[in-house]
Amino acid sequence: MGRRRGVRRCLTKAPKGTRWYGAKKKGRQQKGVTPDSPIREQEEDGFRGFETSGPMQGDRPLLNCISLFDGISAAYVALTALGIRVGQYFTSEICEPCRRVQERHVPFGVQLGCIEQLTEDVLDSIQVPIHLCIGGSPCASLSRVNPARQGLHSGTGKLFFDFIRVKNYLLRRAEREGYPFYWCFENTKHLDAAVLSEMNRHLRESPVAVCSSEFSAMKRPRYFWGNLKSLSTPRVPGKCCLVLDDFLDHGRTALVKTLGTLTTNQESQRGPGGQLPVSERGVPSYLSITEIERLFGFPAHYTDTGLTSNSTRRAILGRSFCVPVVKVLLEELRLVFQINE
Ligand SMILES: C[S@@+](CC[C@H](N)C(=O)[O-])C[C@H]1O[C@@H](n2cnc3c(N)ncnc32)[C@H](O)[C@@H]1O
Repeated sequence: MGRRRGVRRCLTKAPKGTRWYGAKKKGRQQKGVTPDSPIREQEEDGFRGFETSGPMQGDRPLLNCISLFDGISAAYVALTALGIRVGQYFTSEICEPCRRVQERHVPFGVQLGCIEQLTEDVLDSIQVPIHLCIGGSPCASLSRVNPARQGLHSGTGKLFFDFIRVKNYLLRRAEREGYPFYWCFENTKHLDAAVLSEMNRHLRESPVAVCSSEFSAMKRPRYFWGNLKSLSTPRVPGKCCLVLDDFLDHGRTALVKTLGTLTTNQESQRGPGGQLPVSERGVPSYLSITEIERLFGFPAHYTDTGLTSNSTRRAILGRSFCVPVVKVLLEELRLVFQINE
């Protein structure tokens, strides 16, 4: 984490309305490397990160976000893909390879480290209004898929309560100071009924279930809670017409139309009969990292920081949000915050 550690050091650096990147980068954006470009266009010249610059409009604020359990900053990718101009982006994350990905793609982000260390003092030292608190706590201790799960009150399961604590503190502050505050919490859909009911009680909401199969050629059934309209109105799931072939590297052919849930384990790519998903020159093969990146809604090479092995890249992707899912849930924020025109 090194030089980015100090919260206060970074907080004074963003005068309202100031562009976060140098003027040079505008040209790069015009070249076609923008969040909204089709995936393959973004790859033409190698992915170099997103832009948040653009013309000012009205009196809308830039959106300041805190992303708890940020992983590889899928929330930031979704916000910028929506054209929302992000002022400050605070993250809580302990995984070093994830933090390297964050540093590469959100160079102005402020890394706050372990969520358990986000005390009221630390939160008070954030002197800008936080408009969005988003996060999905680790689900390994909670998922029915894990026979050794420890539940909500031990292991990583209990980090759920840190989300509640931080979110409630920031919500109270926003109410007191009178600015818009949105929150979104994500977790696996494979929860025991008792765990789900306890989570609902603490979040004071019931979740909405969204599966990435609406947007990608893979399943990822997830619950989302929050105070966004997208999470409080009944939802009609969309139908996705994309198939695995649409996400593959050149010269490779899909052996299946769609995939199950990709996890940190490479074997999760196999179909119910154990078959591998892709064929290359007639030989069955696992997905490449770039294929997984596209399936999750990232541009190819997004997790390549030069220091991260393929198995680590696969693991951090296997824990990530599916970007188009988060994008659809956050869409209404385009009406509240500055957007690129
Ligand atoms: C389910 S993943 C969320 C990934 C993220 N939503 C994304 O899109 O990449 C949970 C994340 O919580 C992180 N984590 C685990 N313990 C943590 C802690 N004490 N403080 C902050 N983050 C933690 C893990 O490293 C992991 O990246």
